Order: sequence, then structure tokens, then C-alpha cells
Amino acid sequence: MLNDAILITGAGQRIGFYLAKRFLAEGQPVVFTYRTPRPQVESLIRLGAVGIRVDFNEDDAIERCVQRLYEQAGSLRAVIHNASIWLTDEQVAAQPTAFAELMRLHVEVPYRLNDALQPLLLASNSALKDIVTLSDASTAQANDRYMAYLASKAAMQNMSRNFAKKYAPHIKVNDIAPGLILFNEGDSEAYKQQRLQQSALGIEPGEAVVWQAVQYLLQSPYTTGISLPLEGGKAL
Ligand SMILES: NC(=O)c1ccc[n+]([C@@H]2O[C@H](COP(=O)([O-])OP(=O)(O)OC[C@H]3O[C@@H](n4cnc5c(N)ncnc54)[C@H](OP(=O)(O)O)[C@@H]3O)[C@@H](O)[C@H]2O)c1
Repeated sequence: MLNDAILITGAGQRIGFYLAKRFLAEGQPVVFTYRTPRPQVESLIRLGAVGIRVDFNEDDAIERCVQRLYEQAGSLRAVIHNASIWLTDEQVAAQPTAFAELMRLHVEVPYRLNDALQPLLLASNSALKDIVTLSDASTAQANDRYMAYLASKAAMQNMSRNFAKKYAPHIKVNDIAPGLILFNEGDSEAYKQQRLQQSALGIEPGEAVVWQAVQYLLQSPYTTGISLPLEGGKAL
């Protein structure tokens, strides 16, 4: 049984994978979910993490995931809701289930996991206990190419604030709203230049800035109910 573990959803690649590796390097127990088996998943398991394979689109996925978590962990220090899909409205229009999948992954899954896992967080020996959602800085602007995606991430931010009120003072609940962190494989040079020009600082910062933001939120005894923009001055 893991105690005072960090749960990260969707940690099979990129930001979630990076966060899991950094926590493990600090000696923190990690339990993570993944959907697609990848070498990164194997490497986290070799480093001592517990991996739970789940596709949250499946009917009883949340219940099965919660059951596995209770089998594997006696207590949780933090829950990080990282799993995500990023779809244009064109993609949403082409796939009949896509809108529901966005809402399920970004709103229903964190909502139901928070509810089911609150006892594991309260069982932690740590004085500080946290829930962190990863949303998107673009909810602050209108964008008519990603309306469905952004609506789901805006709902996630709103829900995070409400859980902060509900779970205070024992569990802090915060959101991180990233702008550009990492390009996707196959992004064109023209697209990259366009995205870089959207922020005042004009860089692709990489996953380390998300780790720093998570560290701040987990270590602060006086921050709850915020959405922390992590966007290089995009709003400027
Ligand atoms: N990267 C950025 O620049 C950026 C910018 C703004 C916001 N963010 C936010 O930061 C977080 C991490 O970003 P990222 O770029 O590392 O994300 P990512 O590469 O898209 O990874 C997200 C993970 O979620 C998993 N996932 C998707 N649908 C799932 C489902 N139905 N059931 C279970 N798992 C599922 C994916 O599993 P599979 O491996 O099976 O696909 C994937 O490993 C996300 O919440 C994202 O919205 C990132």
C-alpha cells in the first residue's frame, strides 16, 4: 500500500509523465493513470510508481479506477487532474461523441474522483493536502476554433474554485491555467512562430514550469481557490 501518494491522471506522456518523474526523484510515492501503453509508462513503473490503465470514456471507468486506487493507496497527499484531450470545433463536429468526451474528461472525471478520493486525502499524514486541476489559459479569451474544448476547461476552473470552498480548510484546491508549454509533434514552423508571438515572453518553456507551479501550490499553506496563469504574459 502506498501512503501519502501523489495521484496524477494521464501521466503516460509529456507533462503528466514529467511531473510523475520529478515526484519519484524526490522520493514521493506516485500512482498514475494512463490510457495508452508506452515506454514512458514502463519507465515510471520501473521507478516504483503504480500505474492504473484506464480509458475514462468507458462506462464504469471511474468506478473501476477508484476501486483500484483504494486497493493500491492507503492515503493520498495530492491529486493532479492532468488527463486531457485538445480538439478543434471541426473535430468535435466530425465525431458524435467528442463533445461529451470533453465534458466527461475535464469536468465529470475530476468531479467524481474528488468526491470518491476525499477520504484518501483526509487520511494523509501531511499537514497540507491538495487537489490541482490543469486547465488552459485560453479560457480568458474568445476563440471560435476551440469553443467546446474551452467551455470544458472553463467549467473545470469553475468547479475547482467550488471544491476549494467545499473542502476548506483541510484540502486546498487550485487550478493551473497553462498557455503554450510544449508544442506537439508535427507542429509546423509557421504555427510555432505564430504561437510564440502570442506571449510577451515568447518562449516554449517546457514541462519544468508546470512542476514549479505545482510545487508552489502544494507547498503554500495559504493559497486555495485560485487559477494560476502560466502563460508567459499572453494576457498582456
Ligand atoms: N502542452 C501544452 O502546451 C498545454 C497547454 C495548455 C494546457 N495544457 C494542459 O496541461 C495538461 C497536460 O498537457 P499535455 O500536453 O501533457 O497533454 P497530453 O500530451 O495530451 O496528455 C494528456 C494525457 O491524457 C490522457 N487521456 C486523454 N483522454 C483520456 C481518456 N479518455 N482516458 C484516460 N486518459 C486520457 C492521454 O492518454 P493517451 O496517452 O492515451 O492519449 C494523455 O496521455 C492537460 O490538461 C492540457 O490540457 C497543456
